[in-house]
Amino acid sequence: MEVTMSELTAVVHDAAEVVVAEGTQTPLQRVEDAAVAVEDGRVVAVGPTDEVVREYPPENARYTVDASGRSVVPGFVDSHTHACFAGDRSDEFEAKLRGKTYQEIMAEGGGILRTVRATREASDDELLADLLSHLDTMLSHGTTTVEVKSGYGLDTETELRMLDAVRRADEQHPVDVVATFMGAHAVPEGRDADDYVEEVVSEQLPAVETQGVAEFCDVFCEEGVFSVDQSRRVLEAGIEHGLTPKVHAEEFVHLGGAKLAVEVGAASADHLLQATETDVQTLVAADVTPVFLPGTAFTLDTEYADARAFLDAGAHVAVATDFNPNCYSQSMPFAVALACTGMKLTPAEALVAATEGGARALNREGGLGTLREGAPADLVVLDAPSYRHIPYNVGVNPVAAVLKGGDVVH
Ligand code: NIG
Ligand code: FE
Repeated sequence: MEVTMSELTAVVHDAAEVVVAEGTQTPLQRVEDAAVAVEDGRVVAVGPTDEVVREYPPENARYTVDASGRSVVPGFVDSHTHACFAGDRSDEFEAKLRGKTYQEIMAEGGGILRTVRATREASDDELLADLLSHLDTMLSHGTTTVEVKSGYGLDTETELRMLDAVRRADEQHPVDVVATFMGAHAVPEGRDADDYVEEVVSEQLPAVETQGVAEFCDVFCEEGVFSVDQSRRVLEAGIEHGLTPKVHAEEFVHLGGAKLAVEVGAASADHLLQATETDVQTLVAADVTPVFLPGTAFTLDTEYADARAFLDAGAHVAVATDFNPNCYSQSMPFAVALACTGMKLTPAEALVAATEGGARALNREGGLGTLREGAPADLVVLDAPSYRHIPYNVGVNPVAAVLKGGDVVH
C-alpha cells in the first residue's frame, strides 16, 4: 500500500492579527494572537496561536514565520494589468501635469501607440526581463496572482510574442500569471478600425487559440477606439476560440460597454467611471464582476468610479492596479489606499475587493483570494499590526513577507 505523507509546509505564528476572509459575502473576521498552518500548499488551520501550534508544531514545518506584531492577509489578486510592454512614458506624466489630456497625447502618436512601437522593437528576452522585473515588484507588494494583457503588439506576431512572454514569466516566477489577449486595445497607426477588427477576428484570434496561452479576451470599448459593435464582434469571435470575454467599459464616455459585457457573458467589466444606475443593476443581476482601477483616476486626475453604487446594489467588486505605462504603479496596497480615499470603500471592503474580488474577476472563485481552511496558502505578512494599515500607512510598502502555496517566496 502506498502511503502519502502530507507535509507541513509552513506555520506562521504569533501574529497580532490574522484576517479570516471567507469570501465576499461574509465580512472579515480578525483573530488576534493568531497563527496559520499550511500543508501541501493549502491552509489547514487558522486560529489562536496556542491552539494551532499544539496541533501543528512549527519545528516540524519547512518554513516558520514569527509574525509577532504583524498581521496576515490573503495574497492580492491583481485582476487587471498591462504589465508586458517596452519603453518609457514618464514624459507623458509630466505633459499631463501641464494640462494635456490622455486623448490629446494619444492623438499626437503618444500613449498606447508609442508603447506599441517600443514593444514591437523589443526582443523576446527584453519583453520577458521587463515583465519579470515588474512581477518582482508586484510580489514584493503582496501580489500572488496577476492578470496580464497583451495589446501592445497590434499585429499577430507581436501579440503572440507578448503572450509567450506571459507564459514564460508564469513558468519562471512564483506569482501566478493569467493571460488575456487584447489585440483590440487600440487601432494601429494608419489603419481603419473595421479593417483591423477583421484582422483580429480572422488572423489574430485563430493564432492565439493555436498558441494556447490566453484564457481571456479583452477589448477597449471606447469612443474613438472600438465601438460597441466592433467590440462585440471581437468578443464573440473570442468565445468561439475558447476565450472568456472581459471589457474595458465606460471609462471616458458612456458608450454601452457594460451592457455589452452582460450580453456576451463577460467575466468582468472594468473601469466603469461613467457607468449609469442601469449599468449597475444590469451588471449585478448578470453577476459580471465590476473591476475598479482607482490608480487610473489618480494618474489621469479625474473623478473616481462610483464603486459604492455597485456595493449598495449587492455587487462583489474587484479592485486592481491597471498597471501600464500610463498608470505606472504595480502596488496593490496603493490601489487599496486609493479605493478607500477615492471611492470611500472601507479598508475591509477594499481588502476583499483586492483579493477575493480579483479572483472573481478571473473566474476563480471558490478559494483563491480567501484566507480560511482549505484555501490556497497565498499569504501576505504585513509589517503592521492590522490590515487597516494597508490604506492608512499610505506611500510605504507594508509587506514584510509573502508565502505562495505555503512557500516563503519573499
Ligand atoms: O486600462 N484604457 C486602455 N488601456 C489602458 C491604458 C493603456 C496605456 O495607456 O498604455 C487602461 O487604462
Ligand atoms: Fe486597462
